Amino acid sequence: MTDSALATNRRVVVTGAAGFIGSHVCQAMLGAGWEVMGVDSFDPYYDEVLKRANLEEVRGCGGRFEFERCDICDAGRLGGIFSAFRPGAVVHLAARAGVRPSIADPAGYAMTNVVGTQRVLDAAEGAGCRRIVCASSSSVYGNNPKTPFAETDAVDAPISPYAATKKACELIGHTHHHLTGASVAMLRFFTVFGPRQRPDLAIRLFLSKAARGEPITMFGDGSTSRDYTYIDDIVSGVLAAVERIDSHGYRVWNLGGDHPISLSDLISAVGEVVGRAPVVERRPMQPGDVERTWADLERSRSELGYEPRTTVRDGMARQFAWMRERGLV
Ligand SMILES: NC(=O)c1ccc[n+]([C@@H]2O[C@H](COP(=O)([O-])OP(=O)(O)OC[C@H]3O[C@@H](n4cnc5c(N)ncnc54)[C@H](O)[C@@H]3O)[C@@H](O)[C@H]2O)c1
Repeated sequence: MTDSALATNRRVVVTGAAGFIGSHVCQAMLGAGWEVMGVDSFDPYYDEVLKRANLEEVRGCGGRFEFERCDICDAGRLGGIFSAFRPGAVVHLAARAGVRPSIADPAGYAMTNVVGTQRVLDAAEGAGCRRIVCASSSSVYGNNPKTPFAETDAVDAPISPYAATKKACELIGHTHHHLTGASVAMLRFFTVFGPRQRPDLAIRLFLSKAARGEPITMFGDGSTSRDYTYIDDIVSGVLAAVERIDSHGYRVWNLGGDHPISLSDLISAVGEVVGRAPVVERRPMQPGDVERTWADLERSRSELGYEPRTTVRDGMARQFAWMRERGLV
């Protein structure tokens, strides 16, 4: 495909399309005039019913959307989907995404996240798709003491199998760029929240437990902190990366909220949103959990025009309203 044909090919494959971030990315890309092919295997990590509901919301927003149930590790089927669809871009979000469960199944995580990512890159290359945006994670920074975390910091000491697979994806993404000349972006998402958030993640768990008057489990002494990022901000960063990666070749960008908050302050904010003080049960820190995250956004601000706009408090209120509308609390 020529460069000008590439620029005008507004067909995108989104892997992990039925998931939390993937379903929002599909909607935003449809809204921006892209034709979208969603791919997802309905991995059983959490209820397929929730993923099917996400897809219904994508279908309901109009635009040209197709969907294939496919495991990204199935090279033959994935290659067939790419070859038939001939995308101009791929947004690769499919993964096994839990940090703690990765400790029990490192090989399973390596299979989906590392081998699966290689399959996606191979399928893209086979179909002449040379614009690739992949989900990485703030977890690659491990327990680096220097904050905020910058893309130029060393990320050689991951502390969970999940984090190690994400670092491996960044490496194979670079190799793919080097060998094929395709443009590859690696986006380090910092804990994402908002409507459709995965049910295993803290904010969703805390909101539903606090609303029911059930105790919230707090791992550690409450001093660990996270740079929570609202879903709409993540989506704007993903779309900017799709539009701009061609001028960078291979590039890593942080997408964070730039306002880290401690776990105990987060739990207090949950109480304010829900309107009742949470009951807290303390447990020891979990292996694999990092102590802090905080994104340095200088590079993504200047190169992507990225700017997080939603505070944790406002985003949680929107997430809680969505949970109530859907009867989830
Ligand atoms: N949510 C966060 O806070 C966060 C933070 C950092 C990075 N990420 C990354 O962002 C991406 C999306 O995360 P999410 O929170 O939306 O998770 P999610 O679990 O809601 O979405 C991932 C989707 O991938 C699908 N999937 C899993 N294995 C697959 C396979 N073998 N083949 C095809 N599909 C498969 C799942 O069914 C799921 O729908 C992941 O790559 C994750 O690692 C998420």
